[in-house]
Amino acid sequence: MAACQTKKEEINFPKTDLASVPLIPKPIKTIPTGSAFGLDAGTAIYTSTTDPEFEKIGDFLSSNIKSKTGLDIAVNTASEDKLERLIYINQSDSVDLESPESYQLYIKKDSILLNAKTAAGAFRGIQTLHQLIPEKSNDTLTDRPMWVIPSGKIIDAPKFAYRSSMLDVARHFFTVDEVKKYIDALAYYKFNTLHLHLSDDQGWRIEIKSWPKLTEVGGASEVGGGQGGFYTQEEYKDIVAYAADRHITIVPEIDMPGHTNSASLSYPFLHYAGAETPRVRTDMKVGYSSFDAKKDTVYSFLDDVIGEIASITPGPYFHIGGDESHVTKKNDYILFVEKVGKLVQKHNKRMIGWDEIAQADIDPNSVVQLWNSAENALKASENGSKIIISPAKKTYLDMKYDSISEYGLNWAGYIPVDVGYKWDPETYVEELAKDNILGIEAPLWSETISNGTELEYLAFPRLIGYAELGWSPSEHLDWDDYKNRLAAQVPYLESMQINYYPTKLVDWKKE
Ligand code: ACM
Repeated sequence: MAACQTKKEEINFPKTDLASVPLIPKPIKTIPTGSAFGLDAGTAIYTSTTDPEFEKIGDFLSSNIKSKTGLDIAVNTASEDKLERLIYINQSDSVDLESPESYQLYIKKDSILLNAKTAAGAFRGIQTLHQLIPEKSNDTLTDRPMWVIPSGKIIDAPKFAYRSSMLDVARHFFTVDEVKKYIDALAYYKFNTLHLHLSDDQGWRIEIKSWPKLTEVGGASEVGGGQGGFYTQEEYKDIVAYAADRHITIVPEIDMPGHTNSASLSYPFLHYAGAETPRVRTDMKVGYSSFDAKKDTVYSFLDDVIGEIASITPGPYFHIGGDESHVTKKNDYILFVEKVGKLVQKHNKRMIGWDEIAQADIDPNSVVQLWNSAENALKASENGSKIIISPAKKTYLDMKYDSISEYGLNWAGYIPVDVGYKWDPETYVEELAKDNILGIEAPLWSETISNGTELEYLAFPRLIGYAELGWSPSEHLDWDDYKNRLAAQVPYLESMQINYYPTKLVDWKKE
């Protein structure tokens, strides 16, 4: 250490203010100390050795730094004579780090210490650090470029354990690369879940080896008449692994008993007599298809489907859909949800369903996703289920921003960027106990969008607001403060080539 101390120059940093960096989501506590850490070629990253996952976090940070600054920062290998400043990612069992994703950042002149109990916490922490690195270096402080990170302390943890978005890859198919790009943005804003809506009337999007026609027949269509598509199981595993590297869990959804035209078209025995006869559907209607809840063969089919998907899904959840089964008789619907719930349990997953499933007698371990009916959510919560808050009127990313929006629908109303932000998921359903809220989700249905550019137009910038609603304490939620921080996301969005909707409600910080 003596060698590196003698090398160290005294740098006269301009006064900094850690609290004024436009972080999203806003951390619980930020305590500025006015000085700075100079990130430059003399910086190295070290990681705890108690958990091998921490080295991966170090590598991730190093590649973030490389893409933002061009600097090559070594992980766990820098020799002492080259090392002037240190970023240490430390596994800590401190009692202050209560929730698994909590972290503490201590930024000083000669070191940054990131404490986290788990690799997931460390991953959230390096997103904060990534956001703290300025876009531009200061080239006058020393003889080489230095990125000035304000000093101080950040204490942070998420409000909700489940912070999610959903992509409907059924109405229109999105490629693996388009999904990965979305995952990158979710990771940057500290989401931890991506729900994939893998089947619907217009298309079936996941290979099931024991029932190949699902993709051969059911996968070959989409809204508007395009060619559709599907993920092979290898491609799905690739998405799952890519998400897992970013501490994001994939929740697969097979929507049933309604929204099943593409499955029944592939295998007509699944079809329920009261539903419309299956044919290729490229329109946007809902509520006309159903599985037959009374046939044993339907459940042996579903045992295979759920089993194959569960076996390649490391996360704890399986989403059974359950929405808008308008042609299924109520008794049949209830029977169906209860039987499918047992199949999900058999494959060691925890069931999630849209709020209609609360009409059935579901296991209290099941999770109910409020999209439409607060009454259903309350009923489920009283029976012990946890609730995901994703009301269409507030969180549906496919609702148009306003009357001149290019894409989107408006059956739940327009959702301008401020309306999407100015509400509190904890009090949205007044009678719902906070402890029974698992988290928040912003679904993106894809009837009107067919490629990544259109997807991004609807998702951004609203998705960024849902990140804050899911993570930051309610007392920090303030539109006027948020909109300034949102305006400052332009360099990130541009560097990622994300096509965001430049709403006039925000004074975008363009160069
Ligand atoms: C839904 O929007 N039908 C869940």
